[in-house]
Amino acid sequence: MASGTSRDVVGRGLRVLGRAIREQPRIFAVAVTGSVLFGLMVIASAYVVGAVVGKVVVPAVARGSVTDGALALAAAALFGISVLRVVGIFGRRLGAGYMQYRLQATYRRRVTRRYLDLPLAWHHRNSTGTLLSNANSDVEAAWYPIAPLPFAVGTLVMLVGAVVSLFLTDWALALVGLAVFPALFALNVVYSRRMAPRQARAQRLRAEVSGIAHESFDGALVVKTMGREAQETARFAARAGDLRDALISVGKLRGVFDPMLETLPSLGTLAVLVVGAIRLRQGAITVTELVSVAFLFTVLAFPVRAIGWVLAELPRSVAGWDRVRRVLDATGEMPYGEVVLDPATPAPATLAFHDVHFGYEPAEAHLPGTEVLGEVTFTVPAGKTVALVGPTGAGKSTIASLAVRLVDPRTGTVTLDGVDVRELTAASLASTVALVAQVPFVFDDTVRANITLDRPGIGDEEVWAALRLAEADGFVAALPEGLDTMVGERGTSLSGGQRQRLTLARALAGRPRLLVLDDATSAVDPRVEAAILAGLRTPADGGAAASILVVAYRRATIALADEVIYVEQGRVVARGTHTDLLATVPGYADLVTAYEQAEQEREQTRTYDEVTPLTSGLEVEVDR
Ligand SMILES: Nc1ncnc2c1ncn2[C@@H]1O[C@H](COP(=O)(O)OP(=O)(O)OP(=O)(O)O)[C@@H](O)[C@H]1O
Ligand SMILES: [Mg+2]
Repeated sequence: MASGTSRDVVGRGLRVLGRAIREQPRIFAVAVTGSVLFGLMVIASAYVVGAVVGKVVVPAVARGSVTDGALALAAAALFGISVLRVVGIFGRRLGAGYMQYRLQATYRRRVTRRYLDLPLAWHHRNSTGTLLSNANSDVEAAWYPIAPLPFAVGTLVMLVGAVVSLFLTDWALALVGLAVFPALFALNVVYSRRMAPRQARAQRLRAEVSGIAHESFDGALVVKTMGREAQETARFAARAGDLRDALISVGKLRGVFDPMLETLPSLGTLAVLVVGAIRLRQGAITVTELVSVAFLFTVLAFPVRAIGWVLAELPRSVAGWDRVRRVLDATGEMPYGEVVLDPATPAPATLAFHDVHFGYEPAEAHLPGTEVLGEVTFTVPAGKTVALVGPTGAGKSTIASLAVRLVDPRTGTVTLDGVDVRELTAASLASTVALVAQVPFVFDDTVRANITLDRPGIGDEEVWAALRLAEADGFVAALPEGLDTMVGERGTSLSGGQRQRLTLARALAGRPRLLVLDDATSAVDPRVEAAILAGLRTPADGGAAASILVVAYRRATIALADEVIYVEQGRVVARGTHTDLLATVPGYADLVTAYEQAEQEREQTRTYDEVTPLTSGLEVEVDR
């Protein structure tokens, strides 16, 4: 971390705190009022104790008897002060707690909301571990100093009050105060400057450790089957060790500075007693005043630490805040338009690509971005099925992403019923198109919730209809609790083919007018796949058929399409019917034949989940 950052960390940290105060001004006012009340009562208690000693105890010792009246008055005064102190502490704690946890909740919401608004390109550049730690430990770190902040502000007021009352008492004692308090403050500042780079490093390592952990749990299957447990553990241990070292270095610094911060006020008390004794002998002050001031130094020692707590947490807060702001300030989200495309009677939509060029953003800004798609032009006419065929890496999934506007073209347009998809509202886009992605994603929830996703107007009847279309009604009916069955994290209790059909049913339940299937039935028996596609083209329940863009490999599937678009290296090489292309495009014929052969070999060696329902899913998990 640059030294410049550690030098201005206090200033930047205070600006972060300023933002917190602007967000929760009223609660902050309550907390500070409580804290100031507490501070004033601390000073008052010092003077009452001084008065008790000077006016009650010393005369009583001289006289040999105590006056009940004076004692009762002193007791009442101390009691009153204690009650006000308790009220002050209550207000401060409550306010600080409210403020801290409210800010945490607010910013967690903002960060996660932002994740959903940011484009896929941004997500490709940021690991899940980083995302998790942004929303959790970074948000928490940013608002750590909020807890002691009201205490510290109250303490500052108290210190000013203490110095003023010292001057009113005696200039010599005031000088002791003026020496000790700024020294305490300076020590705290040095402390937090030293702390800054250490805290920033620890915060970064926390994110890295959680990132590695997340990745290896996520990839547990690969790690186990490849026998990489030891290496994976070592990779994690190395980072965890770095985090340990970083935290120990934080602890060491604390070990050095904490005792100093503890000792300084005690030295102050000692100085007060020495200077005070001299002044007492000179007759400049009374016993009452000396006791008050000595007591004041003793009771001030603890609250002054609150300033240290805030300053010590500032570096961590700044580090956390920088990481939170990186998310909040990230740009590139795709603004939606105003056009609504919802006809009175649902009819299939027309999808058209006009001279679309596209490239993914490079992983690092300085690298050149390569073009993945060029001059892509084709149409999926209303109610028709178009198959997208091409070798691995040709750009089929990219075309699918463009069709449902997960990404926008660099140049050229994608239109639905003649309207540029960028002009559509988010809701209209979502109700018009549905993508069934190459990798099915299933939430850890019930089958029903996975299909409805809380969208309105999807009752059990619609769910079953969608399941029937996706040829998934059979296995869902056989599940122990039917629609209420929990499917486990990412659908681990389902087979690969079952998972695919569940995500297909999810897309169908919304009655999209354009369905984009990206290799969505690869783990499904070929006969079932053909049946699903045939069912989609002419729904048995008389519902409106959707237009379909399907990324396909199997001859049976491709043969169902009205038109085939053959892509190679991001270009549309040929288009026409399956039979035409087989006859005229050698690359196409080779590809389809190769897939066919691979398929046959697999048929002989592998069972699809139709044959062995409710298997662990591993044997059909292998793609295609
Ligand atoms: N997120 C990404 N960032 C950068 N490049 C990408 C990204 N996704 C895909 N690509 C690249 O874009 C090209 C097209 O990828 P795409 O996923 O569209 O191919 P595909 O035809 O769907 O392949 P497959 O048949 O294997 O699914 C490939 O060269 C790939 O490396
Ligand atoms: Mg793909």
